[in-house]
Amino acid sequence: MAPNESFTVTPYEVKGRIDYARLRELFGTQELDAPLIERLGRLSGGSVHPLIARGVYYSHRDLGWVLDQYEKGQPFFLYSGRGPSGPLHSSHLMQFDLCQWFQERFGAEMYVQITDDEKVWARAKLTRPDAARWGYENLLDILAVGFDPKKTHVFFDTRSIAALYPIAVDVARRVTYSTVKAVFGFRPETNIGLVFYTALQTVPCFYPSWVAGHAVPCLIPCGIDQDPHFRVTRDVAEPLGFPKPAIVHSQMAPGLRGERAMSTTGGTDDNALFLNDPPKEIDRKIRNAFTGGRATVEEQRRLGATPEICSVWALWRTKFARSDAEFESVTRDCRSGAMLCGECKSKVAERVHEFLAEHAERRERVRAWAESAIIERPPPAVPDAPRAGP
Ligand code: TRP
Repeated sequence: MAPNESFTVTPYEVKGRIDYARLRELFGTQELDAPLIERLGRLSGGSVHPLIARGVYYSHRDLGWVLDQYEKGQPFFLYSGRGPSGPLHSSHLMQFDLCQWFQERFGAEMYVQITDDEKVWARAKLTRPDAARWGYENLLDILAVGFDPKKTHVFFDTRSIAALYPIAVDVARRVTYSTVKAVFGFRPETNIGLVFYTALQTVPCFYPSWVAGHAVPCLIPCGIDQDPHFRVTRDVAEPLGFPKPAIVHSQMAPGLRGERAMSTTGGTDDNALFLNDPPKEIDRKIRNAFTGGRATVEEQRRLGATPEICSVWALWRTKFARSDAEFESVTRDCRSGAMLCGECKSKVAERVHEFLAEHAERRERVRAWAESAIIERPPPAVPDAPRAGP
């Protein structure tokens, strides 16, 4: 990240108050603008996912190209992932909710990567067996968003390495140490696992093309903090004979304590709603959540509150409003002072309880197929990758 900005966003560090428009400029990505959203809505059968309509996904690379290919009859596949270091929280599902929507509307194959290696390298206190255990728990949560078992595939890094390794070798040869040092901000004490890791996060972008023996476009819904990995990927793609992956980037969900991202790294557990939190914990966390409310009831009735800085509004926006109409009425009543924070909090808490109960049921059901979705080795006799040279 540029040294004189007041915030930092890399896959390994998110700091400061993020100016998202500026971040897009710094990263050199495109705006997910009205004409493109409209086109996506048209191709998807009439509407876009609420996360897109509400501006949570706000940036992209080459989404238009993926849609061009789709219109020409060349389907794309989806790819997203999770570094397992603990339980998932509600906003971790954003990228998978969007993938599920694309899968349903466009019939796309989905590839999930569980990076139980990455997190061992990135978190000093996490043991390898714990990362693997969380990886499987997280995978159940991810599949429970409603993926099609026939079209969903999983790379679980420590188990899928035989499938990932051939392409990782080719990628790693083309990425220099000075590139990853600059892109990820590595320091002399950074372990060599992280130095190599980005090669593994690249592989799923290319794997379906490698296996098919021809170019298959890739679309990655993810938080914008992951973009640096895919900049590296995009630089090596064409020299290796693969198409550059396209990306749609979301903003980072704000934490309940009003911190910039709903991450628990170095923070407290109170900053996020975990999918395995007991109902009482959920109530307590929401009760204590940071809002955009005023100092007194009288003031709030008179002046209204500020949804844009409110962590509870972010819950409605990213997951819990059932319809655009409901989202708009929550926003309006917040801004006007008609609904006070206490009422808003108890309404959203009710939604969270309902969601978690349904999620827990779906999560039990995916146990039947989760294991068999994991890719353990490449198919026999994979045609070698089309490539421009050694
Ligand atoms: N690096 C991501 C994390 O720390 C995990 C990940 C792997 C990922 N592949 C991905 C995220 C693709 C988004 C898209 O959580």
